[in-house]
Amino acid sequence: MIEPTPTGVLFVCLGNICRSPLARVIFEQRVAERGVADRFVIDSCGTGAWHVGKGADPRSVQVAMANGLRLDHCARQLDPDEDFERFELLLGMDQSNCTTMLELGAPREKVRMLRSFDPLLAGMEPHRIEVPDPYYGGPDGFDKVYAMLARACEGLLDHLIERR
Ligand code: 4NP
Repeated sequence: MIEPTPTGVLFVCLGNICRSPLARVIFEQRVAERGVADRFVIDSCGTGAWHVGKGADPRSVQVAMANGLRLDHCARQLDPDEDFERFELLLGMDQSNCTTMLELGAPREKVRMLRSFDPLLAGMEPHRIEVPDPYYGGPDGFDKVYAMLARACEGLLDHLIERR
C-alpha cells in the first residue's frame, strides 16, 4: 500500500523562542502518544530574526519540563519560499503572526490561528483566541500559554486524524 504524504504542520510565533517551540514539542508528544508520528512533518519558526540560532526561552524549557517534555530547540526565521510550499498548515499564535504570513504571500487557506482548533473556542473571533506573547511577563504567563497550547494541539490532532 502506498502511504499518503505526511502532513506538514508549522507552528509560527514572533521570536521562535517561547510559544511556537512549546507548541511544537506538545504536538510532537501527542502525535507520538497516538502512534501517528510518521504521518506528520512538524516544525516551528518565528517571523522575526532576533533569536535565530538560539535555544528556547528558559521559561518555556521549564514549563515543558514540568509537564514531562524535553524542549531541545534551535530558533529559525520563517522562510516564505520553503515553508509556504512544504507545510499544509501555517499555525499562527496571534493575529499579527497570521497577518505577517499573509503579507509575505502565504496561501490564505493554509494560515490559521492555532487556537481555532480548540473545540471549546470554535467560532470565536480571532482577537479572542490569541496565544498571548509571554516574553515580557512572569513565569505564570508560561503556565497559561502551556495550557492553551495543550488544548489547541489536542484539538488540532483530533481534526487531522478525523479528516483522514
Ligand atoms: P515568542 O515570544 O514569539 O513566543 O517566541 C517572543 C520572544 C522574543 C521577542 C518577542 C516575542 N522579542 O521581541 O525578542
